[in-house]
Amino acid sequence: MTDNPSPAASRRNVTVPSVRASKLSNGDRPLVMVTAYDAPMARIAEEAEVDMILVGDSLGMVVLGHENTLEVTVDDMVHHIKAVARTRPRALVVGDMPWMSFHVSREQTLNNAARMVRAGANCLKIEGGIKRIPMMSAVMEAEMPVIAHIGLTPQSYNAMGGFKIQGREAAAAHALVQEAKEVEAAGCFAVLLEGVPDVVGRMVTDAVGIPTIGIGAGPDCDGQVLVYHDIIGLENRFKPKFVRRFGTAYDDQLRSVSQFAREVRSRTFPSEAETYVARDELTEALGLYGSEVTDH
Ligand code: KIV
Repeated sequence: MTDNPSPAASRRNVTVPSVRASKLSNGDRPLVMVTAYDAPMARIAEEAEVDMILVGDSLGMVVLGHENTLEVTVDDMVHHIKAVARTRPRALVVGDMPWMSFHVSREQTLNNAARMVRAGANCLKIEGGIKRIPMMSAVMEAEMPVIAHIGLTPQSYNAMGGFKIQGREAAAAHALVQEAKEVEAAGCFAVLLEGVPDVVGRMVTDAVGIPTIGIGAGPDCDGQVLVYHDIIGLENRFKPKFVRRFGTAYDDQLRSVSQFAREVRSRTFPSEAETYVARDELTEALGLYGSEVTDH
């Protein structure tokens, strides 16, 4: 904890309209989105003055140990959104609707979306483009703003045959532009574009009036997002091409925990300074004398 109020304390709340209006082509600065899944991560993201905190279903992989995001439930999302929202960030909190939470019926979609908003999400992210517009529209009609996620959609892991870069062929690139235009027309306030060649990132960004937020979509998107664990280097198993690790958290934490283990085993932890040393009256009353209890 620092004694000084953080610069983040004086900044304005980031809102859906302020994000919707943000385009590089207007001269706006790039939007910054980062994932976070618990209160300490949210506090750090907030102090770093990010614009948006995405409670992503990537938590299934980086926190819960699953192979992909398909195991993540609405209960999981609600639990983690609550932890992030309790920190009351000024950043916009985006809740990621997990697989099968917006596929079955309009009623189920609305109930799931509302649970996530009641947990503290300011808006929702829904994977998919044109074919998800009916459910996106239902959510938006109920006053819950939506970011559409197109391109490489991790919830399509099985259908895509893995995490595969999208839009590599001209027809597929044009189709992605069309997806983006249609989700914009449906009322989505931003498009998250994942895993596409840089030119596709540029084409989509130029084609829509709402901001694009890219992850592996090149430098021309209106914003960028990365997974928290990738940024800090806590996820050290697989590094997709688009990830830049800005820290060495895995190594740092391994060093700390290993040192703790060594010092417990060598009996150098805890030291006297880290011990509630009993007063003489207590040791006497307990009938404990001797070198093992008299050092204080
Ligand atoms: O779930 C998530 O974290 C995401 C990002 C990879 C954009 O969807």
